[in-house]
Amino acid sequence: MDTPEKEAPQGSAPAAPEAAPAAAPEVAPAAATSPAAHAEIPPAGAEGPSTAAAMPAKQGKKRSKLRLNDKPAAIDMKNVVKRFGNVIAVNDVTLEVPDGSVFGLIGPNGAGKTTTFSMLAGYLAPTSGEIFILDRLPSAVDELRGQVGVLPQDALLPAGDKVGHFLVYLAELQGMSPADAKIAAESVLTEVEGRDWWNTRCGTLSHGMAKRVGLAQALLGNPRVILLDEPTAGLDPRVAYGVRQIVKSRKGRSTLVISSHNLQELEEICDHAAVLDRGVVVAHGSMAELTASSSEIRVELAAGPVPLDQVRTIQGVTTAGFDKPSREINITFDRSIADAEEMIRRVTYVLYQHQARISGISKGRGLEQRVMELTE
Ligand SMILES: Nc1ncnc2c1ncn2[C@@H]1O[C@H](COP(=O)(O)OP(=O)(O)OP(=O)(O)O)[C@@H](O)[C@H]1O
Ligand SMILES: [Mg+2]
Repeated sequence: MDTPEKEAPQGSAPAAPEAAPAAAPEVAPAAATSPAAHAEIPPAGAEGPSTAAAMPAKQGKKRSKLRLNDKPAAIDMKNVVKRFGNVIAVNDVTLEVPDGSVFGLIGPNGAGKTTTFSMLAGYLAPTSGEIFILDRLPSAVDELRGQVGVLPQDALLPAGDKVGHFLVYLAELQGMSPADAKIAAESVLTEVEGRDWWNTRCGTLSHGMAKRVGLAQALLGNPRVILLDEPTAGLDPRVAYGVRQIVKSRKGRSTLVISSHNLQELEEICDHAAVLDRGVVVAHGSMAELTASSSEIRVELAAGPVPLDQVRTIQGVTTAGFDKPSREINITFDRSIADAEEMIRRVTYVLYQHQARISGISKGRGLEQRVMELTE
């Protein structure tokens, strides 16, 4: 993965011009007042800095009690270990996936995500520990029939089968009548925008098309739990966008566990997540908790003053640096003191006061930044 410094801005919406203080004079004054311990910034409206994002992030291997509602967790893993010979792929993982959540499984290559998916899907048995899906063991195939949909990372489709026939067959295996199976198959294929491939042989699909057929079979029959191991890997941006919309549309109706190396994507669609590193859960909780501890904003300046020292005096700013080639001020801040929008307001106010000319503002990569801090 690239380092955060090297990454281009992640497409965050530029800050709205309303960040300018309401009481600001029409003409920017010269820097008349030297900053004291903290730059003096008028409060935003009647309220002080938002504390909405101030919750401490849950870390470590403690078992959490995540609940979106009063229902029991859809997935419950207790002290799960998976060894392959000397390799410990999953090391004492304990976590709950709240019912109805979209749960991100995050981690670098080899972190243990696919191994975890394989155990949840019942393809692999844990070496030790317990896993419950909908209060059943993953191996309880009959009891879970039609309730768990799985898109494996490298799903292989039967090359000689036509797409429609393959999906109808799978739907019938779930216990549907031939007529219902056809309706269900058409519905999921339409959902992945693959209606035209009904008579196409699976072996002739492109990588992205095959991935979408794999996704369609995971959605077949509206399962209560849907496990998607890198569903957008290798998809073109428009199709990847479509897959994100599909996931979002299932939110609340199904419980979705999804892995991806696109952390911006996970931040957008997931409400909860766990970060794995070398088989160990290094953080898990709600997305707000995971992204709360640190954050950054970047401000691009046109030619003119660069009042970096003044920016550093803003309350909540932890570091501020200036990258000369890109003319970007990189600011990290403590979200227990101010959220990103409040920090943009404070920074733009100080820059405005010191006659810096702003040519762009972007919010930082909350989840990406956090994952970089947590994994090596
Ligand atoms: N069948 C296997 N036999 C031996 N080792 C395995 C096997 N499957 C996985 N591993 C090892 O377990 C570890 C975790 O692999 P896993 O595929 O779960 O990682 P991952 O997080 O899905 O990575 P990626 O992001 O690359 O998909 C790795 O060290 C891998 O080499
Ligand atoms: Mg994997």
